[in-house]
Amino acid sequence: MRLEHTSVLLNRCIAVLSTSLENKGEPVLVDATLGLGGHSLALLEKFPNLRIIGIDRDKSAIDKASQRLASHLDRITIFHAVYDQTPKLLDSLGIWAVDGILFDLGTSSMQLGQSERGFSYAQSAPLDMRMDQSSGITAQEVLDNYSRGDLIRIIRQYGEERFAQRIVDNIIAERTTGSIKSTSDLAELIKRSIPAPARRLGGNPAKRTFQALRIEVNQELATLERAIPLCLERLNLGGRMVVMSFQSLEDKIVKKIFAQATQSKTPVGLPVEIKALSAKFSLVFSGSQKASDAEILENSRAKSVRLRAIERVAA
Ligand SMILES: C[S@@+](CC[C@H](N)C(=O)[O-])C[C@H]1O[C@@H](n2cnc3c(N)ncnc32)[C@H](O)[C@@H]1O
Repeated sequence: MRLEHTSVLLNRCIAVLSTSLENKGEPVLVDATLGLGGHSLALLEKFPNLRIIGIDRDKSAIDKASQRLASHLDRITIFHAVYDQTPKLLDSLGIWAVDGILFDLGTSSMQLGQSERGFSYAQSAPLDMRMDQSSGITAQEVLDNYSRGDLIRIIRQYGEERFAQRIVDNIIAERTTGSIKSTSDLAELIKRSIPAPARRLGGNPAKRTFQALRIEVNQELATLERAIPLCLERLNLGGRMVVMSFQSLEDKIVKKIFAQATQSKTPVGLPVEIKALSAKFSLVFSGSQKASDAEILENSRAKSVRLRAIERVAA
């Protein structure tokens, strides 16, 4: 099958997760963002006794991953679901805790390449942007129905767009005439809204607003913020979680939650650490790792990746 997504930092993910997967009878890992199953496939091949629970909210990703992983279906259980449902899915399988959890966030190259999904400003398509096309609101509905204030907040906050107000004023003026109907209509409106000198910097001017709409449509940040603590609770002692983020807002959330999880709850000022209040988690390495030049050369998607990892060190 033609590969439409090259897995990012594949060997590095395997290396970080190896510690918690090797020397176990039958380790279990959650691949919370199965995508086209690239990471899962490599992990299943490397660890012959590994069982994977694979999750993706995109039905077309699930279909492709199921085909790609066909020879391993006895060791992988695949769910079409949002990853904040992980605890419920594990409960349904009678599994309390797992040895590894992988989050490879964002969209896959396959999703970006399916122009009809509306993720890309490079081709004209309906303004959908839903990762799960069977539920939720589309980008078109956001643009047509949200208040001026909400649109400004979303584009400013999730897109980190300085010209959010100008863009939104144009959206408000033009949406009454029904003239924003496609990704190219929106990209053109954004271009017109950004002053020419600013347009020459920082790549395509539509990038930030498209990112903001995609985050809103899929509730990406709120879901991540809910999912990470829930999933941490489901790690076995010695189990590891690896998260790869591709934009700073996601990475900030992961950094904050990992910092809280690795902090002792012993009140500041007490002379001794209270064991029961010690941190249950420890960072596998401090800060985040970036891709090397060689990894970026191999896969340009790796350019913006930030990889963080955490291990459960106490029950
Ligand atoms: C970067 S791709 C994963 C690629 C995969 N690791 C591979 O090697 O093929 C991210 C995937 O996560 C899925 N996804 C994003 N947010 C999700 C969420 N909240 N719940 C479940 N799946 C999600 C997307 O639909 C996409 O298929």
